[in-house]
Amino acid sequence: MVISTTRSDCGECLDSTFGSRYVSSPVPKFKIPDSSMPKEAAYQLINDELMLDGNPRLNLASFVTTWMEPECDKLMMDAINKNFVDMAEYPVTSELQTRCVNMIAKLFNAPVGDGETAVGTGTVGSSEAMMLAGLAFKRKWQQRRKAQGKAYDKPNMVTGANVHVCWEKFANYFEVELREVKLEEGYYVMDPVKAVELVDENTICVAAILGSTMTGEFEDVKLLNELLSEKNKKNGWENPIHVDAASGGFIAPFLYPELEWDFRLPLVRSINVSGHKYGLVYAGVGWVVWRTQDDLPEELIFNINYLGSEQPTFTLNFSKGSSQIIGQYYQFLRLGFEGYEDIMVNCRDNTTVLREGLTKMGKFDIVSKDVGVPMIAFSLKDSTKYTVFDIAESLRRFGWILPAYTMPANAENVAVLRVVVREDFNRSLAERLLTDIEEVLKEFDSLPSTKAAVLTPATGKTPDEKLLKKSVKGTQGEVTWYWKRLVDGRRAGAC
Ligand SMILES: Cc1ncc(COP(=O)(O)O)c(C=O)c1O
Repeated sequence: MVISTTRSDCGECLDSTFGSRYVSSPVPKFKIPDSSMPKEAAYQLINDELMLDGNPRLNLASFVTTWMEPECDKLMMDAINKNFVDMAEYPVTSELQTRCVNMIAKLFNAPVGDGETAVGTGTVGSSEAMMLAGLAFKRKWQQRRKAQGKAYDKPNMVTGANVHVCWEKFANYFEVELREVKLEEGYYVMDPVKAVELVDENTICVAAILGSTMTGEFEDVKLLNELLSEKNKKNGWENPIHVDAASGGFIAPFLYPELEWDFRLPLVRSINVSGHKYGLVYAGVGWVVWRTQDDLPEELIFNINYLGSEQPTFTLNFSKGSSQIIGQYYQFLRLGFEGYEDIMVNCRDNTTVLREGLTKMGKFDIVSKDVGVPMIAFSLKDSTKYTVFDIAESLRRFGWILPAYTMPANAENVAVLRVVVREDFNRSLAERLLTDIEEVLKEFDSLPSTKAAVLTPATGKTPDEKLLKKSVKGTQGEVTWYWKRLVDGRRAGAC
């Protein structure tokens, strides 16, 4: 057996019983070692340490793909040494990206005529994708304002408070005021009516989310389009909509084809989607597509002459791997519309199994909706004895990794557990998870209140008596406050 240990008397060094076959002296952790070591030793040392990571397949916290077919793994490994930016050297990889952009734009009903090419690009993920979309909106707004001889120094954008942290980053990095529609208990997505109230002449866009990170719920883009059109018409504005379809972009077209959220709505000018979520590719790929060429200001596109070819690029970084693009193309080709549909239906069915099982336990309120990303967010009806954080922590010993978190403003009093149902989370795993949750609940319920609190591994501390005697809501509020301090930020860990 290979046992990996970190020497307690030498926190700065690595040691391993197996590695010591090759390595006789301690290996520094935070400084490049002075000398080389055999490749087998390097492999063993690193592999031993990595054994302590969680199992990605049991990581129910993440939307990001954790399984692909071996044939695709091979294609991706074969391309691991190709830098995507060397387009003249790797023209086929570059062509595959163009094909993917066109496939996605058509999936989202972009008005791409026969013989026309869609406008968009591959990115490292939705975060880079939405930053590019945000920059295009900011520049278009500035151009309009300049042409009208009006001030263009106070741009703002409107989102729900449930927006992913990447939008806050955009607002901060690119100096755009973020106007957030607050949530309320029982309503955890952006209210289109309140969103439109926040819009003014300095609004560069309203960003709607197709698949809220917190609950998976789809925001009502159609209603937003209607209300914003009316306000635009009344004021002579051209305020557009961006859809952050990081998770939902590869769900809605297959499960809810009638739902109008995409380029069928005239104000939707750009959409981002994560290839590495329900696009079914390993981490490292996202996409942004614009409705038409006119929505992407020419001046943002850099024509760089590099390694023998003139390349138009609109990205935040320069070099990146090619494997993810190839992986995405593989999935489109291999699965087709039918294959994606089958997988999404299966994910939805497994979500239903979970929802029904959790409801039957009688302890939880289901916060997520039936229509949305196949995930389930649920809160405890009664948190006086133990909390969702305790449950998450206890489930760790079965190998399950479930995030527990509080909702954004103004619904911070609600703390939920979340299970994201991905393709590789099958029915028997769903049933196993339900059994393990029941087991954990039974254990907590069988203990006297104070014991249950002592069992609280999430905090490692015994909550005081006062906490245990509080009302359900009061207790949850207090735990929430404590947890918030721990996680340092309301959206940490939600990806
Ligand atoms: C709604 C939403 N937008 C953006 C992101 C960021 O996506 P990425 O991890 O692809 O950068 C996420 C991640 O979960 C998300 O849920």
